[in-house]
Amino acid sequence: MSAGTDVDALIARMSWTEKLAQLQISYRPRLEDAAELVRAGIGAVFWPRSAEATNELQRVAVEETPHGIPLLIGLDVVHGQRTIFPIPLAQAASFDPAVAETDGRVSAAEAASGGVTWTFAPMIDVSRDPRWGRVAEGFGEDTLLNAVFGAAKVRGYQGSHLADPGSILACAKHYVAYGAAEGGRDYNTVDMSDYRLRNVYLEPFRAAVEAGAGTVMASFNTVAGRPVHAHRQLLTDVLKEEWGFAGAVVGDASGVVNLLAHGIAEDLHDALVQSLSAGLDVEMGGHVVAPDGTSSLTPDDLTVERVDDAVRRVLRLKAALGLFDDPYVDPAAELTAPTAATRAAALEAAERCPVLLKNDGTLPLPERPLRVLLTGPYADSTDHLGAWVQSFGEPAGSLADALRVERPDLELTVLPGASFDGADPGRQAEVTRAAAGSDVVLVAVGEPSHLTGEATSRADLRLPGDQEALVHAVADTGVPFAVVLANGRPLVTSAWIHRAPAVLEAWHLGTEAGPAIARILTGAVNPAGRLPMSFPRSAGQVPVHYDHENTGRPATTGGRMQPLVHDIGLEGPGNVEEWFTSKYRDLPLGPQFAFGHGLSYTTFGYGAPVLSRTEVSADELRGGATVEVSIQVTNTGQRAGDEVVQLYVRDPVASLAQPVRRLRGFRRLRLEPGESATVTLALGWRDLGFWTGRGNEFVVEPGRFELHVGPRLDATQQCDLVVT
Ligand code: BGC
Repeated sequence: MSAGTDVDALIARMSWTEKLAQLQISYRPRLEDAAELVRAGIGAVFWPRSAEATNELQRVAVEETPHGIPLLIGLDVVHGQRTIFPIPLAQAASFDPAVAETDGRVSAAEAASGGVTWTFAPMIDVSRDPRWGRVAEGFGEDTLLNAVFGAAKVRGYQGSHLADPGSILACAKHYVAYGAAEGGRDYNTVDMSDYRLRNVYLEPFRAAVEAGAGTVMASFNTVAGRPVHAHRQLLTDVLKEEWGFAGAVVGDASGVVNLLAHGIAEDLHDALVQSLSAGLDVEMGGHVVAPDGTSSLTPDDLTVERVDDAVRRVLRLKAALGLFDDPYVDPAAELTAPTAATRAAALEAAERCPVLLKNDGTLPLPERPLRVLLTGPYADSTDHLGAWVQSFGEPAGSLADALRVERPDLELTVLPGASFDGADPGRQAEVTRAAAGSDVVLVAVGEPSHLTGEATSRADLRLPGDQEALVHAVADTGVPFAVVLANGRPLVTSAWIHRAPAVLEAWHLGTEAGPAIARILTGAVNPAGRLPMSFPRSAGQVPVHYDHENTGRPATTGGRMQPLVHDIGLEGPGNVEEWFTSKYRDLPLGPQFAFGHGLSYTTFGYGAPVLSRTEVSADELRGGATVEVSIQVTNTGQRAGDEVVQLYVRDPVASLAQPVRRLRGFRRLRLEPGESATVTLALGWRDLGFWTGRGNEFVVEPGRFELHVGPRLDATQQCDLVVT
């Protein structure tokens, strides 16, 4: 059966339980056990770990089941199958969607060659809370970045045709608002207004659906008391009916069973009925039909139309993948290791993600022969792959080894000096002695991969173990030093950041992490990443994100730090108006490093922004008109480098309170020393309006809009646009 064949005719021949069996995915570690599930008619299984094993399961499905329906073979290929790319949060820091698209293409080719047909990625949960470990898997705090990078990933995985050999199904996850778990604690409750849900959390999913994502995964959390796995309004009304999503909605692992713990279902039967009726199409876990082929579900529980609709969605995806024509892969062509080309692609990606947070000129390392002390747990560690990497992902080398290759002239001393658990303190004395004989010290610290990703919420966002003490010990020596951070979330750096002359946020960069970091430290590559999430000053300040509302009492720096004596009223000590503003008494205003921040080894100058027009009507915008913002950028330094132009919009007066800034466009461009270029970014209907939260009402309200364009939030130039 090809993509054009009659899925409905096939459905008409299927029994009730044969249909239900298509609506589940399950995992069995032993091939024989997986084959049993397939014989019982299951529609999808997790990857059995080789092309040969996949072929065997597909053979059982095609030859030993009544209708010969091939399988979907799923796997979490999140940032690489064999060749591991930077974690998605790092990819977002590149501000270059091509990085995500390339990861998607390379990953899809590697995974598809082994028989995988479906990845559970991209994760596009807007994440404003770095306590949540899963921030590593997504694209950060901004809605537009998640939308743009998510769509790029979908294009990368799915290619131009799903039936092409190097294409697999994408899965936009986790729908929806999972990143807003209270307290940043994984799987926790979510409760929010439709206004915020629409404007912040749903938008990336709308973009993924527009980009053609074949599947969407329901999230574990509740939204306003209803677990998403059983949320008809979100799964059916918004996703399928309003947006016209024609693919399949898959549940998360045991997400249907979890309805019992949520306390909204009596038993598994009830949970299945509630989920499938709400619009879930595929259950992850294999609870719809028992291994003996029986199911508790009857047409009294679920309408035949609903079940047929779900089966149709699944079978159409199988047809689009070309599985009815040929479900097999060539074991001889299975890609089981990176190639020179995929390594080069991963290296280029890894070089684009690090963010230079601070630099007094210590970086890049000078070219003359140099005595370098490399210390910290990441000096010699190979733990650079990050969260969600399978055991067969290609390991990374260490930074020490990469530095030796990149700069053989360095006289390199390597001492760990600290550890992630601080189990072996007292090693700093050795580091202090070695530092005394060095020209420069590199302190490579961070978070181990296993402290990032699913179920790794942290209440303390500082460097774990005795790493902060190591930074202080190095600072005490007075020897110039730079800190390299390898981690999967924004960290709290306030205890030591003021002492560090230079800090490079390198993230978990994947297989090619070592060479990428080494090339940036030595200046072979000029860093140009920008933060996709704010770095808080304290975990107590979280969530802190740039696109907050102004509040009725926006924060000001003034106000005296002493208690106000209320009985003397407004004439009390200090500046009363500034005292009563929205801030923490014990923290300076704002984050440590804001969204969009990132330095370079060169400098850039900006011309004045120019608008293609200064007035436009809402009707014109609705009809597709755009306003172009152009700005000239010049590399005013001595080195070639990339700049990231950022365009923010503010609607200062609207019927609902608006964020103080919203990123509406960005462009990364490369400039040689002295070179100039003009960047033009377009604004349209979607960029200037907002969802009211009343159903699917989206409005652009007439009035003056502030456009802020420049290299970062606190260095933009403003020009105004009037919408009539
Ligand atoms: C995660 C999903 C993942 C699934 C399958 C779950 O625990 O939440 O993101 O796709 O497992 O591995």
